[in-house]
Amino acid sequence: MASGHRQQYLDAMGIIRYVPREPLATKHAQAAAEIEELVATDQIAPYRETGGAGVREQQSPWDELRARVASCTACDLHATRTHTVFGTGDTSARLMIVGEAPGADEDRQGEPFVGRAGQLLNAMLLAIGLPRDAVYIANILKCRPPGNRNPDAGEMSACQPFLQQQMALINPQVLLAVGGVAAHSLLDTDEAVGRLRNRIHVYGEKRTPLLVTYHPAYLLRRPEEKAKVWQDLQKLHGMLHGG
Ligand code: URA
Repeated sequence: MASGHRQQYLDAMGIIRYVPREPLATKHAQAAAEIEELVATDQIAPYRETGGAGVREQQSPWDELRARVASCTACDLHATRTHTVFGTGDTSARLMIVGEAPGADEDRQGEPFVGRAGQLLNAMLLAIGLPRDAVYIANILKCRPPGNRNPDAGEMSACQPFLQQQMALINPQVLLAVGGVAAHSLLDTDEAVGRLRNRIHVYGEKRTPLLVTYHPAYLLRRPEEKAKVWQDLQKLHGMLHGG
């Protein structure tokens, strides 16, 4: 992407005077070497495109899954939701982003990350040349917890099979967990996001590489952390393009 455009997006994220210390190509080489090492030591599986790539969301099994989510009553959140929030984006995306749970805007519109945090997430993605519709975005929970409280353990385990099926269908090359709730749920840990970021984790039987970064809603409250997220985004970009 043209550097002028990238600067525009960084400006939108509030990172005004970013001066790269290392060229992106170096980041790519580092990420490629890290991935190679993880594959060589059998910690992650090598990425392979699957025959599922290009499957359209309107077709089965997406249809089936979407219908099951829409009619789900597995936890009490069904009683207070306006819409279920299934997920959105490219079902053959190489990057899948996992957030926490729908907020008020998402509950109203039935789509993840459409509020202020979503606008920041879009800007973050564009900063590494990814339009929102080139990735797949979903949440740990498909229904809004009232008052935007944190999801509880029962809600997360009731919803988990849906997210796992989405992941299995998409078979992403990289997962990005945004925020503590997503990171803790996917990695089964309670370590702080600040300690989980800047490392390549692995998720599930397919040992999909997983990165953790701060939630965009947190960045709205703590804009001084945006520089760290920019580092995470560069690492992500390197994993998607260098490995
Ligand atoms: N925060 C999330 O984690 N997910 C959304 O969809 C919206 C806000």
